[in-house]
Amino acid sequence: MKRPILLHPDPRLKKTSAPVSDLTDELRALADDMLETMYAAPGIGLAAPQVGLLSRLIVLDCVKEEGETPRPLAMFNPEVIAASDDLNVYEEGCLSIPDQYADVTRPETVDVRWMDKDGNEQTETFNGLWATCVQHEIDHLDGKLFIDYLKPLKRQLITRKMVKLKKERARA
Ligand code: NI
Repeated sequence: MKRPILLHPDPRLKKTSAPVSDLTDELRALADDMLETMYAAPGIGLAAPQVGLLSRLIVLDCVKEEGETPRPLAMFNPEVIAASDDLNVYEEGCLSIPDQYADVTRPETVDVRWMDKDGNEQTETFNGLWATCVQHEIDHLDGKLFIDYLKPLKRQLITRKMVKLKKERARA
């Protein structure tokens, strides 16, 4: 089932999400819903607060090439446990901030630990687009958006555009 995606500005997008202590069927179903919502958008990552649930859960799939096998990942309690000194710049966007993009600098490579849908601990090294995406999504769990990395003026400009967009959508 697809779920509505919250748009910035929304107080729920600024909150810290709570760790998942008990992996319930409800949470597994939420992960499936989030993947469906992400693919439909279309996007490459989505965090639970973006659908209004303040639990530490993210989904991602950064396989973009046509014909390549998709790799849907659902991560409960994801944590960056190591980050490279080497940095990478990507033009980022966010499903909660539609049509707005900006360059963000982040570590090029990160080691991430998480719990999978079966409750098993996983650790993997991500780089390139995957590294950017997983860091962007984990930021959501701490109430942080990619525009928080931008200069205040640019951030305010984007936020003003989003306020306008939300008003237009509410009227439609
Ligand atoms: Ni986002």
